[in-house]
Amino acid sequence: MIKTINPRKAAVIGCGFVGAATAFTLMQSRLFTEMVLLDANYDKADGEAKDISHGVPFAGQMKIYAGGYDDLMDASIVIVTAGANQKPNETRLDLVHKNVAIYKSIIPEIAKRNFKGILLIVSNPVDILTYAAVKLSGFPEKRVIGSGTVLDTARLKYALSKHLGVDSRSIHSFIIGEHGDSEIAAWSSTNISGIPLNDFCEMRGHFNHEEAMREIAEDVKNSAYDIISKKQATYYGIAMSVKRICECVVRDEKSILPVSSIMHGNYGIKEIALSMPAIIGADGIETHVPISLNEKEMEKLHNSAKTIRKIAEELDL
Ligand SMILES: NC(=O)c1ccc[n+]([C@@H]2O[C@H](COP(=O)([O-])OP(=O)(O)OC[C@H]3O[C@@H](n4cnc5c(N)ncnc54)[C@H](O)[C@@H]3O)[C@@H](O)[C@H]2O)c1
Repeated sequence: MIKTINPRKAAVIGCGFVGAATAFTLMQSRLFTEMVLLDANYDKADGEAKDISHGVPFAGQMKIYAGGYDDLMDASIVIVTAGANQKPNETRLDLVHKNVAIYKSIIPEIAKRNFKGILLIVSNPVDILTYAAVKLSGFPEKRVIGSGTVLDTARLKYALSKHLGVDSRSIHSFIIGEHGDSEIAAWSSTNISGIPLNDFCEMRGHFNHEEAMREIAEDVKNSAYDIISKKQATYYGIAMSVKRICECVVRDEKSILPVSSIMHGNYGIKEIALSMPAIIGADGIETHVPISLNEKEMEKLHNSAKTIRKIAEELDL
């Protein structure tokens, strides 16, 4: 049976740290009126659904419940957070085999129910799993969005806002490439409401550009390791990132976010997914937008692509 899409319905698959924080954030966002939670452990999904529902009277009317795959057929967005997370000292790429196996059990279940909405991939390694989700689902690529470096970009803007004493929303900057150790801070195109980064730094009394930017980029890249060593997992920042992507889809915003998707020769990169700025609206990824990169950044982007390709080639997809 083909159900029509309910544009105000979301589904979250995987109700661990990330799935639960995401569901809690979405409940408060009032973007949706219905949300179904799925987990291999049904009781975990049921417990989270009940707990989060108790916030509804403070947010806005919404139905939240635990369910199965038949319950997500009419959702407009299915958010997949299922899978193992990083343990201390583990990289995101270390998770690949465990999580690809989990995706092989999840994505075909969604595809065979003729799901017509947006599939939002969050589990790590997110670039590999976005690629896997496209291959395993057969969905048009624009409907499969990897959360990519949306979170890393938020971390970068937050760090820059502290450094510069300016609202992070006035900062235009992207982390691109892999959501992981080879990610790149695209400094050469960074600006603060149109003012080039270095000029703004000098206006704020900072003159050690290279050293400061290197430190900020390193801290952003290592922030997940730092948080995981202290509290097991990261989840609030990614929950807000997922909410931001959902806003773009539900409101057809056509905002530009660095989401992960399969590249087709842009920047000389093909047949792997990684993050580059793209316009996001009701139908998913509308188009990539060009970002100007200097030679060093372009070289780092190709190295990032190489890292992902090496892993992707080992997988049987
Ligand atoms: N993209 C990002 O920016 C970002 C940020 C943080 C975490 N993550 C990733 O999100 C994922 C989840 O992290 P977490 O901390 O919530 O982990 P977690 O271990 O707390 O939760 C994972 C959940 O997935 C469930 N699950 C496992 N297999 C399943 C299946 N086949 N079907 C349904 N549910 C299944 C588990 O029961 C568990 O509840 C990890 O891969 C983590 O690395 C991504």
